Amino acid sequence: MNGSSPRERPTPVSRPEQAVAHAAAIPAEVLHAIAEQVGTPAYVYDARAIDGGIGRWIDAVGDPSRISFAAKANTNLAVLARLESFGVGAEVATLGELARARKAGFELRRIVFGGVPKSADAVRDGIRLGVGMIVLQSDHEVEAVLAHAAESPNGPVHVGLRVRPGIKAGAHPSLETGRTDAKFGFAPERVPAIWRRLSDDRNLVPQTLAFHLGSGLDSVAPYQQALELLLSLTASLNGSGAPVRELDVGGGLGIDYATWTDLEPADLVRNLTGRLAGSGAQLRFEPGRSVVARAGLLLTRVLYLRDSRDNPAVICDAGHTDFARHALYRAQHSIVPVDGELSGDPTVEVLGPTCESGDVLGTGRRLHATRPGDLLQLRDAGAYGFVMASNYNSRPRPPEVLVEGRAWQVVRARESLEDLWRGEKIP
Ligand code: LLP
Repeated sequence: MNGSSPRERPTPVSRPEQAVAHAAAIPAEVLHAIAEQVGTPAYVYDARAIDGGIGRWIDAVGDPSRISFAAKANTNLAVLARLESFGVGAEVATLGELARARKAGFELRRIVFGGVPKSADAVRDGIRLGVGMIVLQSDHEVEAVLAHAAESPNGPVHVGLRVRPGIKAGAHPSLETGRTDAKFGFAPERVPAIWRRLSDDRNLVPQTLAFHLGSGLDSVAPYQQALELLLSLTASLNGSGAPVRELDVGGGLGIDYATWTDLEPADLVRNLTGRLAGSGAQLRFEPGRSVVARAGLLLTRVLYLRDSRDNPAVICDAGHTDFARHALYRAQHSIVPVDGELSGDPTVEVLGPTCESGDVLGTGRRLHATRPGDLLQLRDAGAYGFVMASNYNSRPRPPEVLVEGRAWQVVRARESLEDLWRGEKIP
C-alpha cells in the first residue's frame, strides 16, 4: 500500500485557515546537529511553536490572565518561562509543580493550585505561600482551608470548588475525570452547602466553580453540558453566600494526533462565552496539551531491525521510559524519518530498548526503508512527554532542547549516571 497514511504524513497539512505552528517544521540539519552533539533520545521543542500554541489561546480568550497553563503538560523551566512571558497564569497540581512555576517566574497571584485532590498539608502550604486561588476537590481540603485560612500572608484566601458533573468525556478511559465515579471534585448536590460554609468564613473568598472533564476532547458539546450545570449552580448560589465570579472549565481540548485538524480554542471560547450573559461570572481556561503538544518532538535513533519478514519492527534508543503515551493509552503519535520517505505497508512496529514487550512507541507504520542508525522523530510530544519519563531500567532521562529558528540550546541536560542514585546510600 503506497497511499498516504494520515498518521504518518511526512509534512503535516494544516487546515488552510489555521496556521498551526509545530516542531515538525524544525529543519533536518538542526535535528542532525542536535543528535550528534547531544545524543539521542532527546526531546526537542520549537520556541516559536510554543508561542503559537499559547498565542492561539490568547487570541481566543482576549485576556491572558484568564488562562492558566496546566503545568503538568510540560514543566521544563524554559518552556514555563516562555509561556509566563505572555502574561498567562499557571495551574499546578502539586507543591512540586508550584515550586517549578515560581522558579520559572510566575507570580503567586497568577497560580491556581488545582489539579488533584490535595493533602491537607499541601493545602496549608499553598495558603501560607499565598497562591492566587486554591481549587478544593474533597472534604478534607475544605477542612484544611477552614483550619488554615487565617495563616494567609496576603488577606483572604480565594477558593474554588471543583464539581464532578457526571459526564463521560476523554480520549481514553484513563483520561476521563468528570465521570460520576471519578475521584475528582464534589457531586453537584453537595456544592451549595459547602459554598455557604466557605462564605461564612471571613478569611475566605469563594469565587470559582470549576470542572475538568478529561483530556483529549474533540468536541465542545461536553463543555456546554457541564457549563449548563455550573450556571444553574451559580444562579442558586448567587442568592445566598458569596457570588460566583468565575467558572473554570479546566483543560482537555484535544489535538488530533492523526489528521492535524484540531478543534480551535476560539470555537470553544466563543461557544461557552455566549452562554454567560447575566450570570455575573467570567470564564477561566486551563489548557495544557493544546498549548504545547505540537511544539515538541522526541528524537530517537534506530538501533536495529527485528529479523522477521512477516512481523517487521524497528527498535529505537527511545522507549516507553522516555515516552509513555503508547504504553499507557495506546496513543498513536506520528513517527517519521528525519530524512527519507515512508514506504511500504503500514505494518512496522516501533519498539523501545527496554526489557519488556510492552515497550512500544507506535504500531502499523510505513517504515520499511528505515535502517539502523537512521534518525526518527516522534511528533506532538511537547505535552505529557518528558514529564512522564521514568528511570526504569536505570535509564537516565533524556535531555530537553529548545530550538529557535536554526539556533538551539540544551534547556535540561541528559541525566548522568550519578543522577540515578542521588539521595541513596548504602548503610
Ligand atoms: N486542569 C486540570 C485540573 C487537569 O487535571 C488537567 C489535566 C488539565 C487542566 C489540562 O488538561 P489538557 O488540556 O492537557 O488535556 N497524561 C495524560 C494527560 C493527563 C491530564 C490530566 N489532567 C496524557 O498523556 O494524555
